[in-house]
Amino acid sequence: MKILEDRIRQDGTVLPGNVLKVDNFLNHQIDPQLMDQMGAEFASHFKNAGITKVLTVESSGIAPAVMAGLHLQVPVIFARKHKSLTLQDNLYTAKVYSYTKQVNNDISIDRRFLSREDRVLIVDDFLANGQAVQGLFDIAETAGITVGGVGVVIEKRFQKGHQMVVDAGVPLVALASIASFADGQVIFAQD
Ligand code: G4P
Repeated sequence: MKILEDRIRQDGTVLPGNVLKVDNFLNHQIDPQLMDQMGAEFASHFKNAGITKVLTVESSGIAPAVMAGLHLQVPVIFARKHKSLTLQDNLYTAKVYSYTKQVNNDISIDRRFLSREDRVLIVDDFLANGQAVQGLFDIAETAGITVGGVGVVIEKRFQKGHQMVVDAGVPLVALASIASFADGQVIFAQD
């Protein structure tokens, strides 16, 4: 998606450890117009995929997931990383290891919000090592629901997540696909 690649070139900063900082439009401050365009782009790819719900993980996945849900006209569910007063039991839970933060999180979704007829689109901000997506795959399997696709705003093609989704046989759409970082510059994949 050209407008997104241009924004990454303009506002993204490459940090040590192959981390792309995009917190002025995606991870902290959010650009709603850009989010809306990205939601429309996800919807154009998955409009015929029979999607009934969008799934994501808090927190940075929520904005693109909501926009995808808006354009697909389906509900959006975000897995929580912490239990809350209103989220205590009757949960689907999976373990997600964060390489960047080096912590294990349990992610949880209330069982009431998923049923066997559901066909979900998983949306997230970054696809890096694929841990978040794997956690949602695990929940989908436990819940007996089908994953109809994975949509990510930015994938780092050189990390494990891309291949993991391809190997799972699930259609993958990345709105921007980064092949590498060279001398602090972002090199986008050509296809
Ligand atoms: P994953 O995202 O594919 O699961 O891989 P990984 O375990 O490496 O990612 C851990 C966290 O770091 C995730 O956020 C992910 O979105 C984020 N991340 C990975 N690579 C980058 C990057 O290049 N730039 C930025 N800005 N973030 C990256 P999280 O822990 O789920 O946090 P959040 O959603 O609460 O923000």
